[in-house]
Amino acid sequence: MTSSVRFEPSGALRGEYTPPADKSISHRAALFAAMCDEPVPVRNYLDSADTRSTLAALLKLGAGVEEERPDLVLVRGVGLHAPLEATGGLLDVGNSGTLMRLLPGWLAGQPGGVWTLDGDDSIRRRPVDRVAEPLRAMGAEVSARDERLPPLTVRGTELTGIEYELPVASAQVKSCVLIAGLLAAGSTTVVEASQSRDHTERMLRRARVPFRRAGRRATVSQVDELELDEIVVPGDPSSAAFLVAAATLVSGSRVVVKGVGLNWTRAGFFRVAERMGAVIVGELEEPGTDADEEPVGELDVASGPLEGTEVAAEEVPLAIDELTLVALLGAFAEGETVVRGARELRLKESDRIAGVVDGLRGLGADIESGDDGFVVRGDGSPLRGGVLDARGDHRLAMLGAVAGLASREGVEVVGMEAAAVSYPGFEADLVAVVG
Ligand code: S3P
Repeated sequence: MTSSVRFEPSGALRGEYTPPADKSISHRAALFAAMCDEPVPVRNYLDSADTRSTLAALLKLGAGVEEERPDLVLVRGVGLHAPLEATGGLLDVGNSGTLMRLLPGWLAGQPGGVWTLDGDDSIRRRPVDRVAEPLRAMGAEVSARDERLPPLTVRGTELTGIEYELPVASAQVKSCVLIAGLLAAGSTTVVEASQSRDHTERMLRRARVPFRRAGRRATVSQVDELELDEIVVPGDPSSAAFLVAAATLVSGSRVVVKGVGLNWTRAGFFRVAERMGAVIVGELEEPGTDADEEPVGELDVASGPLEGTEVAAEEVPLAIDELTLVALLGAFAEGETVVRGARELRLKESDRIAGVVDGLRGLGADIESGDDGFVVRGDGSPLRGGVLDARGDHRLAMLGAVAGLASREGVEVVGMEAAAVSYPGFEADLVAVVG
């Protein structure tokens, strides 16, 4: 059911705020734990529609999942080479692109197993040929609707390691190939054109898998088993970005964000926002680390006048889920804000270039779409407001809410319920800082 929610112009945002757990890391924590032989406690596992889809799929594959909320999910794995009793059937990924792209990497290496992955209307419009292609090259039999869309059927087999150059900057595809590489004879190398989030690499190091990174090349070797200690999931910088944007835009705001992940490969939005003039004080991670832990810290955010900026091509994958927020900041900034080289945005939970351009234009912004991005022009004054359709996309719903708080007349978000895909407590967290 579609619900419309109005977000009125708000007074200054104040206080402390802890974002929900990281969605990307939660998916990986559960999946890697399910590949272990010994039970793995996962603390602060995200409780959202997407990450529930992952737990449900793993249960179906034979893993045990004991939820001792609010803080602990204990995953009892089936081992890297899953028992064949767990074979078969339909795995429902819901709205989750990460589950749809990562899980086939594990399934492809289970000889004799056959699984079909399917999901909601949004997932059925999102390409899976990007994982089918490398998995086929490793020896798996993979088929998809019209060769490129879900449902995706994977027949597991003995895999062989490959060297694979990613045609798109995608952490999901990189992760799929690296996971399949754990089961493939020899070694498997993924070559990235541009650095994308590195949570899988950190998880592999933590699991003491033979893993090397040299520049843009990441290599894993076949292993018999995985072993992981307790995993503690940090706060999600992509979820925090909505409140950070709100605190940046609503004058007089000052919010301290606690327990947020500061991984360099996820902090692109904070760097771009700072460059635009946002006041964000905190210790973001330095680039090029070989760490296995995820850095966590605090950001002290205050409102301030913004200037337009150009987002460089190599920044795009590092801020991919926050580029719509860059557009929003651009609409309140003085001058031009340009995002290019972000065609991938058209393949997210919705076409986010169309969604953000139509959405912000409807609120009074001067914004134009290009094939692979957008240009926003502002004069430093707040947006008027109006109605924004979330198009079933969690991030567009939350963007509309933030636009409403910072606007002159408020914003009605059509389809606010979509936020629950990654951030069920979003509205409550906003209310808490708005006071
Ligand atoms: C994700 C990677 C990104 C991102 C998505 C989560 C991940 O997708 O947009 O929300 O967890 O690996 P791509 O790999 O398609 O860029």
